[in-house]
Parts: sequence; structure tokens; C-alpha cells
Amino acid sequence: MNHAEAGKPAFRIIDRLAGHASPDSAAEIIAGVAAPAASIEPKYFYDALGCRLFQAICELPEYYVTRTEAAVFEAHRTAIAKAAGTQHQLVDLGAGDCQKAACWFPALDPCRYIAVDVARGIVESALAEFAAEMPGTDFIGLIDDFSSTLNLEGIFGPEPVTFFYPGSSIGNFTPAEAVHFMEQTRRYCATAGSGLLIGVDLVKDHEVLRRAYDDATGVTAAFNKNVLNHVNKLAGTNFDAGMFDHIGLFNPDHSRIEMHLEAREAHTVSLGATTRAFAKGERIHTENSYKYTPDAFRALLSRAGFGKVEHWTDEKGWFGVFFASP
Ligand code: AVJ
Repeated sequence: MNHAEAGKPAFRIIDRLAGHASPDSAAEIIAGVAAPAASIEPKYFYDALGCRLFQAICELPEYYVTRTEAAVFEAHRTAIAKAAGTQHQLVDLGAGDCQKAACWFPALDPCRYIAVDVARGIVESALAEFAAEMPGTDFIGLIDDFSSTLNLEGIFGPEPVTFFYPGSSIGNFTPAEAVHFMEQTRRYCATAGSGLLIGVDLVKDHEVLRRAYDDATGVTAAFNKNVLNHVNKLAGTNFDAGMFDHIGLFNPDHSRIEMHLEAREAHTVSLGATTRAFAKGERIHTENSYKYTPDAFRALLSRAGFGKVEHWTDEKGWFGVFFASP
């Protein structure tokens, strides 16, 4: 499959979402906002505008996450590559534009690169570019939602696998869900040398954490409120984003950032066939972003069946990069 036809770079797309225009998501969204404790899943942040607002968040002075991870990668590139191993199959979970993984191509020299994401267009254009530049590597785009089930049947070759899950995306899962998710990656790590390379935001000063999710410019507020515009498109609701305030707080009892949308006034929203009345001050829970100590995260990896773990951090100890193998 990885032989280029004349002039055509070698990559293939396996689209598990094609033809599943997910009427489920409308029902799921409406059930979430109709519930007594209203919630919207964070995956709905990422429509076209939401993706751009998230990119803007990554540029904010308060949002240290992306740049601190990049600094840890940069400072420890050689040691991390030595731990992870080279010429493996690199599986990029939530690849997006594949830029974070591309920074690792020289050091990890993957024999196969498998980009997993729901966004087909963005993965396709990244792979077309890589395939033209790196003819010795097999490029695969797997278009799928892996948040509950990671299905890589028929995708792998015999080489060891390195899973790549950067950005502290793991923070959106509860600790129990995170264990379940990492356990699924561990089951694909049977070939010696395989493992999981994962970026995790660490517990720090609570005010530093809070400001990263409630920035002075209001970009995170716009990102949070925009979920209502996306929900209106997906579920046919009529939320007015202007009727809600952004809340970003650190909840020390659960060691997590929480984002909510708080109704500024009492009002009623149409959910299509039904309505939902919001009291003044009532909140819609839109995101959890868990923060770990290195020991707490090592304990999760151990529960997921990873027996050997190395980790690296920046000088302030703000962000952790872990490589875990069975
Ligand atoms: C993409 C889930 C890692 O939790 O820091 C950023 C999302 N939300 N600002 C995070 C996010 C608000 C981000 N993750």
C-alpha cells in the first residue's frame, strides 16, 4: 500500500466516521443541557472557530501549557528519544495538524506514522506534505473518535509502537477514565520496546492555574462561550452566548480546573422539542482539566499496567513528559 504511484505521495486514509453524520451527538448534547446539573462535553469546543480560539489560547501569556511542553520536549529531546526508541510505528492520538509529532520525526525516525483524529481534512493535507518529503515512511490517517474506544485493528505492522499523546489532553478525562484509556494503549504495546509518550500538566500555584483558564484578554471566555454556537448548529438549540458569563476555577478537592458557563439572568432556551429554563447564576459545566503531581500520574500509569516509567519536567516543574512501557 505504501508504494507511490507516479507523482502521488504514499499515504492512505482510513475513515471510520464516513457516513456516520452522528445524529447521536444532537441527542447527547440535549440530554446534557437538559439534565438538572447541565453539562456539555469539551469535545464540542472544537468547531472551526473553536480550533482557532484554542490556537489563540496557546499564544496567551497566561496559558503556559503548550509552550512549557514544547520547552520540555526541546530540552530533553535526545533522552526522550532514547527512552522511546527509534524506527517505531508512531501513533499520534488527536493529531490535528500533526505539527507536534512532526517535531519528533528527526529524533524518532518513525517507520510508520499513524495520525488519529476526527478532522479528516486537516490530517489529509498534513500527510500529503509529509509523504512528499519523507518517502521512506508509511503515512496513515485514521479518522476516528478514540475518546471512548481505541480501535487500531488492521492498522499496525510488526514493529514496536510508540503512542504519542501530548498537550495534557489526558486532563479532560477523570482519573478513572484516564486509566481506562491508557490501559487500551498498553494492550497494543505487546511488542518489546513499545510504550506511551504523554504530556501532563502538573499541579502548581492555584492562581497560576486559574489565570491560565481565565485570561485577562478574554480569549478563554470566548472559547468557552463559543461552545454554545457550536451546540446550536449541532443540536438545533437557541442558546445566546451573550446570556452567559465564563467561569474558570481551580477545584482543589478534585485537583482540576473547571470551566462553566453561568447564566447572567433567568431565561429559557429552546432545545427543539422541549425547553430548558436557566435560573440566574445557574451553570453549565463545560470542561474539567485535571492536574497531577508526578507521583499521582505515575500511580495512574501503574494502574493502567505500565511498569516502567521515566519522566522529565521544566525547571519550575510545571509540566511533565512521561514515557511509560509495560
Ligand atoms: C486541550 C484539553 C489540553 O485543558 O488545557 C485550554 C483545553 N481549555 N483552555 C486544557 C483548554 C481551556 C486544554 N486541552
